[in-house]
Amino acid sequence: MTTDFSFFYGYAPSVKTFAPGRIEFIGNHTDYNGGMVMGVALDRGVTVEAAPAEKSHLRLTTTHGETPVEIDLAKLAPQKGSRAWANYVLGVFSVLKDKGLVPDHGIDMHVSSNLPTGAGLSSSAALELAAGLAMCKVYGLELSRADLARAGRKAENEFVGMPCGILDQGVSAFGKKDAIVRIDCAREEFSVVAMPAHLAFWVFNTMEKHNLVESLYATRHAECSEAFRLLKAAGCTAENLASVSPEEIRAAKLPAVLEKRAQHVVGEHRRVIAMSAALAKGDTAQIGRLLTASHESSRDLFENSTGKLDALVEILGRTEGVIGARLTGGGFGGAAMALTFSSFGEEQAAKVCGQFEARYPGVRPAVFSASAGDGARVI
Ligand code: GLA
Repeated sequence: MTTDFSFFYGYAPSVKTFAPGRIEFIGNHTDYNGGMVMGVALDRGVTVEAAPAEKSHLRLTTTHGETPVEIDLAKLAPQKGSRAWANYVLGVFSVLKDKGLVPDHGIDMHVSSNLPTGAGLSSSAALELAAGLAMCKVYGLELSRADLARAGRKAENEFVGMPCGILDQGVSAFGKKDAIVRIDCAREEFSVVAMPAHLAFWVFNTMEKHNLVESLYATRHAECSEAFRLLKAAGCTAENLASVSPEEIRAAKLPAVLEKRAQHVVGEHRRVIAMSAALAKGDTAQIGRLLTASHESSRDLFENSTGKLDALVEILGRTEGVIGARLTGGGFGGAAMALTFSSFGEEQAAKVCGQFEARYPGVRPAVFSASAGDGARVI
């Protein structure tokens, strides 16, 4: 069989891996604040084919036309411009190298994806995990799922320069069919919660790619750190921002913007805990209320929503069959997710898009329904 890899390299790959993208279910911007978060691994993501190469180079190609990259392994450094997409892979290689991987040969890799990029569905974490797993197989490394997730996050923090938490990589590593991944980010503990039966996820992409996402994300990250620093200076003894109480935040009289950011994080952390209970009881009314409250908190307190995301969530909120909806991921554009009863189908989804388009002429959201899938794996 001709694979994409053999088309580019002229020989067959020795391993093929897949890692899923994710929906952030609830727990917005809690991960790097030591809070709880829940996400769902999608049944779509990134596939990497790889093989050991004789030379000491790392070569990377994709099915989707990104600039091919070839790097001498002795000279690993972040790439710029059209080659910057490779940094997620090079970053993971560099983390594994620091962990003691001493390559005596190179590696060839080919990437393909069925995940929209820039939609807040973590195509970058999926690339890190699929590439990381492929490297482990090619170099004979045994890494736990948690260590693979940590390697992806470290690559993103240190090599790409994005100060993300562990949500995306954790969900891509620990995803499970028909289940929601719950992460205690302070302890880096990963567990799964069963999905109540007869529910479905839908993703509505606003098609709004915000090119300031990374700098706005970094700004929010810095605001949270500053809020926690001031809270500690005011005598707060909590070990992280997420576990401060709303009352303590009010009492500390933080600057107004920082108080809003802190209340969002604390509220989200508590909503994840409440969500665990609601899921266990199958209490769909409460699940819906928590999702709506999460979006409102993003909109009003963390200010990481947009007019288009608000419009989608509002339309979804009054559509039959929808349990709840909210923005998913970092925010500032990208996609909204809806949790629905399984009676909600293509027809209702098209109606939602029609109403959105009536408000934003010429902008039709891309939609897909998703089921919870398994995490990173060799295929
Ligand atoms: C992005 C980051 C995650 C997380 C979310 C917001 O997806 O990569 O680490 O912070 O935003 O919850």
